[in-house]
Amino acid sequence: MDSTVVIIPTYNERENLERIVARVRVATPDVQILVVDDNSPDGTGDIADRLAAADAAVHVLHRTGKEGLGAAYKAGFAWALGRGFGSVVEMDADGSHAPEQLPSLLAAAEDADVVLGSRWVPGGSVVNWPKHREAISRVGSGYARFALRLPARDVTGGYRVFSADALRKLQLDEVHSHGYGFQVDMLWHANRAGLRIVEVPITFTERTLGASKMTGGIVVEAMLRVTWWGICEATDRVIGRHPEATRATAGS
Ligand code: GDD
Ligand code: MN
Repeated sequence: MDSTVVIIPTYNERENLERIVARVRVATPDVQILVVDDNSPDGTGDIADRLAAADAAVHVLHRTGKEGLGAAYKAGFAWALGRGFGSVVEMDADGSHAPEQLPSLLAAAEDADVVLGSRWVPGGSVVNWPKHREAISRVGSGYARFALRLPARDVTGGYRVFSADALRKLQLDEVHSHGYGFQVDMLWHANRAGLRIVEVPITFTERTLGASKMTGGIVVEAMLRVTWWGICEATDRVIGRHPEATRATAGS
């Protein structure tokens, strides 16, 4: 089974959803789309329903309230695995991830379990991102890469392809992060599962419509979790404990 679904999580993306769905349909006509909406107060869920009614390749998962990016993606992964998709794409709704670059990610996915769209490899870039956001991302990515020995430059990015097999192997039940730390958590688990991870350069363009949901609390949550995982892993290496034991404690 080789079919692909792009999961687009949304919270208040009224101005962006129709445009991103249209761009994905044009750039990759063979892939399906799943919008995972957390009952957005601005009516994004109604727009998703309208798009789904008009196009059999568009699907919607309505959740009851805002529970964060991680919870939305996990619900989307369960939906995709339950329907037998062969690979699953993560993409933001706000246009930061260009659907026109999806073919290059999917091509790389032919020889990899996990493909990371990367801003921080040669050829990758960010456009119109405020300097402070770039600094947070670079420092956070560098810190997590070092603390967790992750084999990638951009470890927090949200434009990725996972094979269904990879999602089954990486112990999704043990991924508990709510905010953006979720992306680091997923990569950490993928790496521990021994999956093949490759990076592909992308151009990340800051949104022009709507607002980011990133908060200081989300950054702090991610940093604290990464530090705790890093300590657990270092302890494992020193005392030779099996990583399974760390997962049980580090996930909570
Ligand atoms: N369903 C749901 N629930 N969707 C959410 C939630 C939530 O609680 N929070 C955010 N989203 C959706 C947004 O609607 C958007 O489609 C996507 O998740 C990304 O949110 P943004 O708020 O636009 O993220 P960002 O631009 O600040 O962050 C980007 O950079 C981060 C750091 O590299 C994204 O690419 C992140 O994935 C990335 O981790
Ligand atoms: Mn964004």
